[in-house]
Order: sequence, then structure tokens, then C-alpha cells
Amino acid sequence: MAATSTNPALQALNVRKSFVSGRLESTVLHDLTLDVRAGELTLIAGPSGCGKSTLLAILSGLQPADAGQVRALGHELGGMSMRALEHFRLQHTGFVFQGFNLFPALSALEQVELPLSYMGLAKSAARRRAVESLEEVGLGPRMQLLPAELSGGEKQRVAIARALAKQPELLFADEPTSALDAANGQIVIDILHRIARNHGTTVLCVSHDPRLVGHADRVLAMEDGRILSDHVPTPPAEPKAKEPSA
Ligand SMILES: Nc1ncnc2c1ncn2[C@@H]1O[C@H](COP(=O)(O)OP(=O)(O)OP(=O)(O)O)[C@@H](O)[C@H]1O
Ligand SMILES: [Mg+2]
Repeated sequence: MAATSTNPALQALNVRKSFVSGRLESTVLHDLTLDVRAGELTLIAGPSGCGKSTLLAILSGLQPADAGQVRALGHELGGMSMRALEHFRLQHTGFVFQGFNLFPALSALEQVELPLSYMGLAKSAARRRAVESLEEVGLGPRMQLLPAELSGGEKQRVAIARALAKQPELLFADEPTSALDAANGQIVIDILHRIARNHGTTVLCVSHDPRLVGHADRVLAMEDGRILSDHVPTPPAEPKAKEPSA
């Protein structure tokens, strides 16, 4: 079922998660409820350790919640078998990680093609989509290079192209800019925003980087396993358009 504006792409209802280490049980998510609107870049911002990665893992079906419900694109994730969940993630979601998660021996093009072959795309179609996605993130001329030959910012753009090429309805990003300097972080967040706008993808990004706040369509502030506020940020000032010269 496709998400619409009246039908959020992602919903968490009273989600609870605890971890036990030794005899100590600590609750990381406290009956957390949220919805994520389709086609927007939503940022979940909060301090280190407040539960952002745990929440993202639960919303994307990587980890089960202890209690509560998660609905993604109208599917109740808790009611799905492992196999169905894996299929759902492969077909409908893309994931971008802080550490890029690239294979050292594969070129940028091969990294992007790989999940497309798992999805069952023919080789020629996979090549076409991979090239398009790499061009979209500005890496057309560097697609034959290995990760060791790319800068951090370029590596993250390969990871984004890999997620984008799947044409997912849901794109998750966990601290996608925290290993990058300010300029490259800016490029990455601009690309994520453009993906939401141009492809209608629902992009959910978690980060403790305050520089990202102004670039999101919506910001949910998280602290200690709870959502504290929900607001639309003021966008950063656009550079003034140049007057056409006479
Ligand atoms: N598998 C696990 N086993 C035990 N504790 C865990 C596990 N995963 C997370 N935690 C704990 O849950 C809490 C929240 O962790 P989480 O990784 O979700 O935070 P975060 O907001 O993503 O932090 P950061 O900004 O540093 O990435 C931390 O105290 C962490 O130690
Ligand atoms: Mg984290």
C-alpha cells in the first residue's frame, strides 16, 4: 500500500525497547509514538545515547520492539515473519550508515549494482539504474574507482547512490554526515533533501549534528528515549539569484 499525506509512511505507536546487560535492564525507548510523513525529509535530532539508532533500527524492521506497534507503508512490521521482513526491507527500504559500509574490493558502480541483482533486476537494467544514481549524486566520472580511491564525502555519496538505485519508498540514514567535514556534510544532506523532493521518497535521518536542522522539512527532537518536540525548521537563507546581466 502506498503512503499518502493522510496515511503516514511510517508510524510508531507506544514503542518500547529495553536492553539487559548483566542484571541491569535499561529502557531505551519509552512508549514512543510518532509518525513520519511521506515524501519529506524528517530529522530526528538528539544527544548521543538517547536512542536514535535503536529507534531507526526498529522503524526499519532491523530490530523488533519489545512492545508497541510499527507500521511501515501500511504494513504492521511486528506481524511479519523474518523472511517477509527481509523481503520488505529489500524491496522498499534503503539504508545509509555513518561508516558508509562499502565493500573494499568493489568499484563504486559494482557497490550500487549489487543490491539491484539481489532484487532480481537484469544485468543491463541494474547497470542503467546504477549509472543514473551515481550521476545523480555527482559521481558519474568516478564510478570505476574503489572506496580507497574516494574521499569520505564521495564514499558517502556512493552509499546514498546504492540506496537510491533501489528506488525505495523509505530511505533511512543513521548519522550520515558525522564522519564528514562541514562542506561534505552539507552536500550529503542536500542530496538527501533532493531525493525526498524529486523522487517523493520518505527520508528519515537521525543525527546529533545541529547543522542539519535547518535543512530538514521537519525536526523531531528526541531525548532520553522520548520525542520532546516536533517542528518545521526555518530553512537556511538561499543564495540570492543572480540578476541577468544587461
Ligand atoms: N544491543 C544493545 N545492547 C545493549 N545496550 C544497547 C544496545 N544497543 C543500544 N544500547 C544502549 O541503548 C542506548 C541508546 O543507544 P543508541 O545507539 O540508540 O543511541 P544513539 O542516540 O543512536 O547514540 P549516538 O548518537 O551516540 O549514535 C545506549 O545507552 C546504548 O548503550
Ligand atoms: Mg546512533
